[in-house]
Amino acid sequence: DWTPDSFIETTIAALREKLGDDKVVLGLSGGVDSSVAAVLLHHAIGKNLHCIFVDNGLLRKDEFEQVLESYKHMGLNIKGIDAKQRFYDALAGLIDPEKKRKAIGRVFIEVFDDAAHEVQDVKWLGQGTIYPDVIESVSVKGPSATIKSHHNVGGLPDFMKLKVVEPLNTLFKDEVRKVGKALGIDPNILGRHPFPGPGLAIRILGDITPEKVAILQEADAIYINNLRSAGVYDKVWQAGAIFLPVQSVGVMGDERTYENVICLRAVESVDGMTADWCHLPYDLLAKISNEIINNVKGINRVVYDISSKPPATIEWE
Ligand code: XMP
Repeated sequence: DWTPDSFIETTIAALREKLGDDKVVLGLSGGVDSSVAAVLLHHAIGKNLHCIFVDNGLLRKDEFEQVLESYKHMGLNIKGIDAKQRFYDALAGLIDPEKKRKAIGRVFIEVFDDAAHEVQDVKWLGQGTIYPDVIESVSVKGPSATIKSHHNVGGLPDFMKLKVVEPLNTLFKDEVRKVGKALGIDPNILGRHPFPGPGLAIRILGDITPEKVAILQEADAIYINNLRSAGVYDKVWQAGAIFLPVQSVGVMGDERTYENVICLRAVESVDGMTADWCHLPYDLLAKISNEIINNVKGINRVVYDISSKPPATIEWE
């Protein structure tokens, strides 16, 4: 019978056998899968696991610092890399969502590769690939593979001639969470909503500037913190704010404003393939809207997305 403890025990033994004294590099994203993969590898090979966590400037507010801190707390051998400016430079002026994704993927590979080269004699690339990712990348017709160029899987550049080790590639998401819990990983990491690799870049419609990212981070933080304090966060499959570069008229005191729109999105889903919008309580929506409009400069209107998938995707880009 499958239990998290038996999985952990056999996987650690198998990893030790397979890796011996070899070194492994692994990119952490702050998400569940890469975190659980990293902790398993850490238990198996300790300091021979070299983790890399890239700040692409497109993460949630304070996320890089907080997540880096909790990884260090877990004892992981981890290097945080501030590459914000490289990503902003590559994104400057890009509007097309696929071009934005490609630019982010390209810069990530460059930054990761630079960092990986600093690990002497590294032999392996560790990845948090889970079973559904394996299936999805095999059946190229999967909607998410064809409609949007997801780059969670297969982003290995040719020049990194590393062997791949994927300790979670037989598990489903709920099993990964159970393993993570049995490993004692921070519940805040295990319970996180899915968050796309390109991050806030695909939640800002059109071109990206550091100013727009900062506005969206503030609005998103107010939104997510309110979902948490209302006890709703864990009931929602995924939530996030979207920056709409649409200006509309408002009044603030006796001033007329002409500012942007924040859209709130929250969905229920099982696997992200289909999704229904969440019927969040009106009182909660009212509180979030007031807080955003009163505290986030540059926003004078908040709307709620009431579209289900299909046909509307979860992300706006
Ligand atoms: P959509 O927007 O296609 O999203 O309904 C389904 C799920 O996939 C996530 N998503 C992405 N994840 N890179 C990722 O790693 C991407 O480019 C990407 N686009 C969407 C989305 O957040 C949702 O969980």
